[in-house]
Amino acid sequence: MGGKFFAVLITGALTGISGLAVAADLKNIMAQLGRDMHQVSDGIMQDDLEQVAQGAQAVADHPRPSLGQRWRILQGMGNELEGFRQADARVHDQAVELGEVARAGDREGVVKHYFELVEACIACHDQYRQPVRELMRE
Ligand code: HEC
Repeated sequence: MGGKFFAVLITGALTGISGLAVAADLKNIMAQLGRDMHQVSDGIMQDDLEQVAQGAQAVADHPRPSLGQRWRILQGMGNELEGFRQADARVHDQAVELGEVARAGDREGVVKHYFELVEACIACHDQYRQPVRELMRE
């Protein structure tokens, strides 16, 4: 309750001060990640590795959630926080690797890393999607 109010205050203050932070909503970030992954899989099917590399880059560079949402996650996750962060880092690292093999023209590597990236997305969903979703709606 107090935390929620504080989070609202902080977000309000920060978005007021600067236009620097893009206050992206986690759900929108995820929807965009879904579209980026479509771009990747279309690229694989069309044998367009440049498109694969671009999609992978977009996944790797996805925006961060708004400060208010990060604050909620920070407060609400308790000792799950580290695991959540690692799940995020795993997706990032896999996306970077996928981009690298795509740029190198390594088609077998692309398929292998594509699956590893999908697994990394799902690993976080299996463990954290529901609890984090609840935190966002509280
Ligand atoms: C660190 C954890 C984490 C990782 C990694 C992650 N997600 Fe998510 N994802 C979530 C959470 C939490 C939600 C629920 C968000 C909500 O409902 O507010 C979600 C929801 C979604 C949704 C549903 C969005 C909607 O409109 O309801 C899609 C699509 C999605 N993720 C795609 C992806 C893709 C693709 C990847 C990998 C490139 C990925 N996610 C990686 C945590 C993660």
